Amino acid sequence: MPKVVFVSPGGARRELAIADGWTLMEGAVQHNVQEIAAECGGGCACATCHVFIDPAWLSKLPAPAAAEQDLLDCTAVPRQENSRLSCQLKLTPELDGLVVMLPERQT
Ligand code: FES
Repeated sequence: MPKVVFVSPGGARRELAIADGWTLMEGAVQHNVQEIAAECGGGCACATCHVFIDPAWLSKLPAPAAAEQDLLDCTAVPRQENSRLSCQLKLTPELDGLVVMLPERQT
């Protein structure tokens, strides 16, 4: 089960084990990560599951699809080069240790 480190805007770190095959968003919601709103439930329609990926991990992730790219322009906190929508990222064993930073707000 891959472990993911979520870093809050204040710097607090929380390491959570998320089932292989789940999305990052599903794992965050399951573990009550308050900074992930996920209003559309993973339908790639709300942009309230925005996260910033630790740059060291960016190259290990699949490139965002066109729909994710478009929606990243609608995040509450402006997108950066390392922005992703957590509902579009499936956990695999290779992502064990992934570090993501949470934005200050999602709406
Ligand atoms: S949960 Fe709505 S876009 Fe990710």
